[in-house]
Amino acid sequence: MGLRLNGKGQQSHRMVIFFAVFILMTLLIFYTSNNSNEAVYTPFHVAATKAVTAKDLKRWSRKDGFVPVYGNKSLALHCGNCALVTSSSHVLSSRAGEEIDRMECVIRMNDAPTLGYEADVGNRTTLRVVAHTSVFRVVRRPNEYLRQTDRNFTIVFWGPPNKIEKNAKGTLYRLIQRVGMTYSNVSFFSIAPNRMRKFDNLFHKETGRDRQKSHSWLSTGWFTMVIAIEICDNIKVYGMVPPNYCGKKPLSKKMPYHYYKPRGSDECLMYIQNESSRRGSHHRFITEKQVFGRWAKLYNITFTHPTW
Ligand SMILES: *[C@@H]1O[C@H](CO)[C@@H](O)[C@H](O)[C@H]1NC(C)=O
Ligand SMILES: *[C@@H]1O[C@H](CO)[C@@H](O)[C@H](O)[C@H]1NC(C)=O
Ligand SMILES: *[C@@H]1O[C@H](CO)[C@@H](O)[C@H](O)[C@H]1NC(C)=O
Ligand SMILES: *[C@@H]1O[C@H](CO)[C@@H](O)[C@H](O)[C@H]1NC(C)=O
Ligand SMILES: *[C@@H]1O[C@H](CO)[C@@H](O)[C@H](O)[C@H]1NC(C)=O
Ligand SMILES: *[C@@H]1O[C@H](CO)[C@@H](O)[C@H](O)[C@H]1NC(C)=O
Repeated sequence: MGLRLNGKGQQSHRMVIFFAVFILMTLLIFYTSNNSNEAVYTPFHVAATKAVTAKDLKRWSRKDGFVPVYGNKSLALHCGNCALVTSSSHVLSSRAGEEIDRMECVIRMNDAPTLGYEADVGNRTTLRVVAHTSVFRVVRRPNEYLRQTDRNFTIVFWGPPNKIEKNAKGTLYRLIQRVGMTYSNVSFFSIAPNRMRKFDNLFHKETGRDRQKSHSWLSTGWFTMVIAIEICDNIKVYGMVPPNYCGKKPLSKKMPYHYYKPRGSDECLMYIQNESSRRGSHHRFITEKQVFGRWAKLYNITFTHPTW
């Protein structure tokens, strides 16, 4: 009895295994093909055909764009070759420090430090562009961020007018003003309200999307790039990934968003999540890089670490 059943039982057993494997394979093929047809993120930037590449950034008037925090200085910076050093961990182990320091002007953002990272990011700063949200971190460590390495050392603050506008009520502007008085060798400017609107209009023009209606925030990188174009003849950008970098498969290995926060969030994850978020306001890091790519041809911008 056992033997007879055995023959039939084995056959149906094999059938079950065969079907199980078949179904698994089908699912697997379906899943992977479905997945590879799907972008990893939903691009924010949809109106490429509507975009108008701004050709007049160098003609923006500086006088009504930057308000001196203290005294009556005006932003007179003009440089031939600039290094724009991003805060991305892609700059780590670039060993680009000496090359960066040889440039006429070195531009940095927010509280990206040089101390301890000189070999990769250099040790001079000509211009630092600081978001209203980073002001406290910058003024808290004056030896790191307000130490004068360059003759025309300049700091530009950007933020909503009610926070950083001249005579804005509130502690932030008072703090900026006090720092401006104390560190008189540094030229401090805040971006004027009408210039903030200009930055918004530029975003609209370049992406076909209204910044506010599309719930977008401009990044410090956006402000910094435009200011760099205004003051520099040539720009070499260190550590910025190209716009398609984070959508590539296989996914690139994890890289911290900031070089000085090795345990911080992964850069691509941050970019993708921001790019595809619709509720609340978000940065459009990837869209911004698409725009930078178009500007690169007009304004002699080159990208290194990685090169693109
Ligand atoms: C800036 O202020 C100084 C002294 O307060 C004055 O002599 C100078 O003319 C001013 N410069 C401008 C461009 O207003
Ligand atoms: C530095 O400032 C001085 C005086 O404002 C100006 O003449 C000079 O061109 C500036 N240097 C650079 C590199 O912009
Ligand atoms: C930093 O600054 C010093 C002197 O100012 C210089 O000798 C050194 O080579 C600089 N660069 C780096 C990458 O440390
Ligand atoms: C400010 O500039 C003056 C003149 O260039 C210089 O002697 C002084 O050491 C500078 N102060 C600081 C804090 O860098
Ligand atoms: C573009 O900039 C690079 C330096 O970043 C420079 O070597 C090159 O000559 C520039 N090209 C033009 C056309 O100005
Ligand atoms: C977007 O980027 C900012 C950093 O500028 C980060 O703090 C925030 O968590 C990101 N948002 C999402 C949804 O990933």
